[in-house]
Amino acid sequence: MTAPATRRARIAVLASGGGSNLGAVLDYLDAKGEARAADVVLVASDRPDAGALRRAEARGIATAVLQGRRAPEGTPPGELLDPARFDLVALAGYLQLVPAEVVRRFPGRMINVHPALLPAFGGAGMYGARVHRAVLAAGARVTGVTVHEVSEEYDRGPILAQWPVPAFPEVDTPEALAARVLRIEHALFPRVLHRLALSLVRPRDPEDDDFVGLDVTDIGFAPCPTRAREFAQSLDLMFGP
Ligand code: GRF
Repeated sequence: MTAPATRRARIAVLASGGGSNLGAVLDYLDAKGEARAADVVLVASDRPDAGALRRAEARGIATAVLQGRRAPEGTPPGELLDPARFDLVALAGYLQLVPAEVVRRFPGRMINVHPALLPAFGGAGMYGARVHRAVLAAGARVTGVTVHEVSEEYDRGPILAQWPVPAFPEVDTPEALAARVLRIEHALFPRVLHRLALSLVRPRDPEDDDFVGLDVTDIGFAPCPTRAREFAQSLDLMFGP
């Protein structure tokens, strides 16, 4: 009897820029090999010259240009993003607001990565270097990465996972901070996306009773454990029982 074909989630990635987060997702799925629970089947951008499209073409992934100010001839998002074609939509440095009626088609299945600890330093106009400049100007000593569900407002959807990153306002430039945060984006975003895909194609283990959200502990270091008991254990380690 032939093994049933492994159903994998079909992901559409939207990106406006160079696509390093897209690259991180593709590398993560490649590294998972046959065990991967998802494939990126389309990369779309509102910018015909976006590096993310070139990365996709280089890997033989279908691409599309989304209609917008920079591409009036592009495909309207509502025409492209069909739940019959895609199980998940991942925003990886996509700067346009996704139309509300399109967001509503993917309840719990459209996510975004933001280079700060939302709800702080987010919202319309808060992207790229502007975010890191604002963090340093505020004198914040901890920033980080947020992966959240997309809603009808910029950066306001339910938070799925966050990871802290230290900031050094005295010495950091926005570029240095952006680079430090981007490394964590590349570690966190693929794992959250894959976990979401797993939950769609391979139901969760009910034994895992105190599971708290998405398990990203395989990043190699865990400043914020995702299971209640691990957090208690790390407190005991730090401050004694
Ligand atoms: C990342 O910092 C991401 O958080 C933000 O835009 C940047 C995109 O980078 N939304 P890339 O295009 O994935 O390299």
